[in-house]
Amino acid sequence: MFSLGLGRKQAPLLGIDIGSTAVKVVELARVGLASAHTFQVTSCALEPLAPMAVVEKKIADVQAVGEAIRQAVTRCGTKAKAAAVAVPGSATITKVIPMAVGMKDAEMEGLIQLDADHYIPYPLDEVNLDFTVLGPSATQGEVDVLLVATRHEVVDNLLAALEIAGLEAEVVDAEPYALENAAILAMGAQADGQTIAIADIGAQATRIQVVRNGRAQFSREQGFAAAQLLDEIRHRYQLKADEARRCLEAGELPDNYVVDVARPFAEALTQQIGRALQFYYSSTYSKPADQILLAGGVAVLPGLEQTVSSRLGVLAYVANPFAHMTLGPRVPGQLIQRHGPALTLAVGLALRGYD
Ligand SMILES: Nc1ncnc2c1ncn2[C@@H]1O[C@H](COP(=O)(O)OP(=O)(O)OP(=O)(O)O)[C@@H](O)[C@H]1O
Ligand SMILES: [Mg+2]
Repeated sequence: MFSLGLGRKQAPLLGIDIGSTAVKVVELARVGLASAHTFQVTSCALEPLAPMAVVEKKIADVQAVGEAIRQAVTRCGTKAKAAAVAVPGSATITKVIPMAVGMKDAEMEGLIQLDADHYIPYPLDEVNLDFTVLGPSATQGEVDVLLVATRHEVVDNLLAALEIAGLEAEVVDAEPYALENAAILAMGAQADGQTIAIADIGAQATRIQVVRNGRAQFSREQGFAAAQLLDEIRHRYQLKADEARRCLEAGELPDNYVVDVARPFAEALTQQIGRALQFYYSSTYSKPADQILLAGGVAVLPGLEQTVSSRLGVLAYVANPFAHMTLGPRVPGQLIQRHGPALTLAVGLALRGYD
C-alpha cells in the first residue's frame, strides 16, 4: 500500500502547494512547550508558474513545475528535503467506512485491500490507497476509517516534479484535508463544535468545503474564480492578459475598479459560494455553517467578506493561516502580509509534519 502519509508522525516538512499560477512553499517549526506549543514560519516563498504549466489542477509541464519548485526552495533558504504535497479533491476519492474497534493497522490494511473494489471505481493497480482512523463511528464497537484513493498518474507527475527540485514527497495529502488543517489551527478554540465552510478562491476554480468537528462533510468545486475577474478587467480597461493580472495584483487599477468591477464580482462569487452551500444543505446530515472562511488569492477582493456575510447570512472572514505564528528571520514579512490567504494550503501541508 502506497503511503499517503496519513497518520505520519515526524519532524518539519516543506509544505508545497502547486497551484495554477504559482508554487508556494512554507516550512514551520514547532516552538514552546509541548503542552502549549505554537509555530514559527521558518521558510516561505512563492514562485510564479508559466500559464500552461498546471492546467485544470494537473501538472502539464513537469519540467517547468520542477524548476519553479527548485527556485522557490532555493529562494526561501531551507535545507529540508522532505515535502508534503497535495492532490486536488477532484483527483481523489475518499470514503468513510466503519470498521470494528481494536484492529491493528496491518489487519485493517488487509481488510481494506480485500474490500477496496467495493469503494473505489478504478482498478486497484491504478490507484494509491491510504487510510486513517477518524474516531468512533455512530455504531457502538466501530470506528470510522477514512479511505483515500488517488490515481497513480496524478501522483507520478507530482513526484517527478519534486525530484527535479531534489525533494522527496513524504506526504501526499488530499487538498481539502490540508486546507481544513490550516483553517482549524488558525481558528483555534473558535473552531470547536462549529460547522465551518472554507472557500478556496484560486485562479480557475473556487473549491468549497464544509468541516465539522475536524471532519470534512462536503466538498464541491465551482468553475468561477480569478480567471473571470481578470477577463472583466481586461475588457473594461482594454488591457492585455498579463497587464490585467499585474495591475490587479499590484493594486494599480483605476479608482472605479472597486465599485464597477470588484463589487459586482463579489456578488457573483457570493452566488457561486451560496449555490455550492445549497448542495451541502440538501444532503441529509447537513448543519448550517457557522462561519465561512475565505482562502486563496481572490479572498482579499474588496468587499468580499461583507458581501458573503450579508447575502448568505453567515459570518465570513478572510483566512489568516499565520494567525498566532511568529516569523523566523529568513521570512519576508511582506510576502506573508500580501499573500496570506493564498498560502493557506501550503501552511496546511507544512502542518502535516506535526500530526
Ligand atoms: N488583490 C487581488 N484581488 C483579486 N484577485 C487577486 C488579487 N491578487 C491576486 N489575485 C488573483 O488570485 C489568483 C491566485 O490565487 P491562488 O494563489 O489562490 O491561485 P492558485 O493556487 O495558483 O490557483 P488554483 O488553486 O486555482 O490552482 C491569481 O489569478 C491572481 O490574479
Ligand atoms: Mg490554490
